[in-house]
Amino acid sequence: MSDSTAMTRRALLLGVGAAGGAGAMFAAMGALGLAPDAQEKAFVPPQPSDFALRGRGAAKVVVLGAGVAGLTCAYELGKAGYDCTVLEAADRVGGRNLTLRAGDRLTEKDGETQTAEFGEGTYFNAGPGRIAQWMVTMDYCRELGVPIETFVNNNASAYVYTRGMTAPARARTARADLYGYVAELLAKATDAGALNRRLTKDDRERLAEFLRRFGDIGPDLTYRGSTRRGFETYPGVTGGVPVGAPPSLSDVLAAGTGRALTMDFGYEQAMPMFQPVGGMDAIVTALVRAVGRDRIKTGARVTGLKNLPDGVEVAYQGGTIRADYCVATLPPHLLARLPHNLGAPITAALRTPVPVAAGKIGLEYGRRWWEIDDRIYGGITETDLDITHIWYPSHGYHSGSGLVVGYYNTEENAHLYGELSHRDRRSRALTQGKKIHGEKYRTELRSSVSIAWQRQPHIEGGWVYWPSHQGAFTLLQRPAGRVYFAGDWLTHLIAWQAGAMESARKAVTELHRRVLQTSS
Ligand code: PHE
Repeated sequence: MSDSTAMTRRALLLGVGAAGGAGAMFAAMGALGLAPDAQEKAFVPPQPSDFALRGRGAAKVVVLGAGVAGLTCAYELGKAGYDCTVLEAADRVGGRNLTLRAGDRLTEKDGETQTAEFGEGTYFNAGPGRIAQWMVTMDYCRELGVPIETFVNNNASAYVYTRGMTAPARARTARADLYGYVAELLAKATDAGALNRRLTKDDRERLAEFLRRFGDIGPDLTYRGSTRRGFETYPGVTGGVPVGAPPSLSDVLAAGTGRALTMDFGYEQAMPMFQPVGGMDAIVTALVRAVGRDRIKTGARVTGLKNLPDGVEVAYQGGTIRADYCVATLPPHLLARLPHNLGAPITAALRTPVPVAAGKIGLEYGRRWWEIDDRIYGGITETDLDITHIWYPSHGYHSGSGLVVGYYNTEENAHLYGELSHRDRRSRALTQGKKIHGEKYRTELRSSVSIAWQRQPHIEGGWVYWPSHQGAFTLLQRPAGRVYFAGDWLTHLIAWQAGAMESARKAVTELHRRVLQTSS
């Protein structure tokens, strides 16, 4: 940059700063590629005035894939007037953000086609189902006016089931026992002086006081169970009937319930979590509306991708399109198979992430027996069966029907179910769920739909896993010529819509900066 250019930019920025304040100045600096690092992290959407500053217009961009990453790219670029076309191979938009309702058809690769026969108002989030508060997905819901409600990710009344148990335990019971015994062990070890080298006398007193609360242990530091375990008959006019004394420490450890209790300890799964009202695809619907349906071509499978000296050329089923830039958001394993001229290292990099199988089944019931009989309002039962989890709906409480997710599994379990016909998946899922909920789990079923993401055309996986974040991962963060990559697979938020959105924002920011810099 020459001194005179620097002066001009400085004068310009000072002018912007005086007129619009620091926010406007930083936005302009971001657009000019001058913002300091910390500021660059805050996303500033491209805006028409960015071009006014440079006296140039927006570019033409072809976006491959109308999933959450592709739609977010088109939405953000569209804010500044970029001319975006989104090519989508499927005949519907949304990618893995898929909500199935009555009449929806679901076709698998080399497999059967199911038709959802749900009652009116029933929906099945076959893909993403929960959003953490801190995720950018929440910002898009706010910005796009998508109403949200609580998603119950943890319910003390849900069950924990481990093979060999005669009856499932309530999560609260399992937790009371595990916390109780852990508290007892630690309190007794501390009391016996085993931790004296680590703890001062004050530390020991404070720890003891915490452990009494944590485990509900007695003055003698022994865990004997407590009302935290729950009741056979809850207190009311009478004192109720507690579930009784805990199993031995050894039995509690053998039951392996810690698996279930720690599920929501991480930053991704902690309560409260959220879901859009009426189905996860409300996010897709809102993005499509904002992008403009006419900018999205469905049934347009991409068959070739070429960098040209001054643009890109994309061949698809139904035509060829030329643009200034491309953002490719298809799953990496599909991009790797696409004929392109981006070079062998790019193909090798795209082949590096490993697709992970994932599956779900939606079981619709005409009676919300989990609420009526089990007193479970939302939440998840954790099992060590091949179904892994059972999700109860976090909406429609007390209505006449509802949909339970009968399995949500990955890897081997997802392959196991994925290879079965829908009928057999259902019957296997019912056999497993019956171990927890009894005969009604089978007899009261109204309809069902199952998905094996590894068998979904144009997707072929639940998500991907990177053996390492070096090399390929880093290479694909950068554009290959005029082709940018985006998707949850390029982030540390894999298998979250937030990953797709964050990645889209990154690609948009870099593409926009380049357009502003190269057109002057
Ligand atoms: N986001 C998915 C889910 O909520 C998959 C996932 C699970 C991702 C756990 C990270 C951690 O189930």
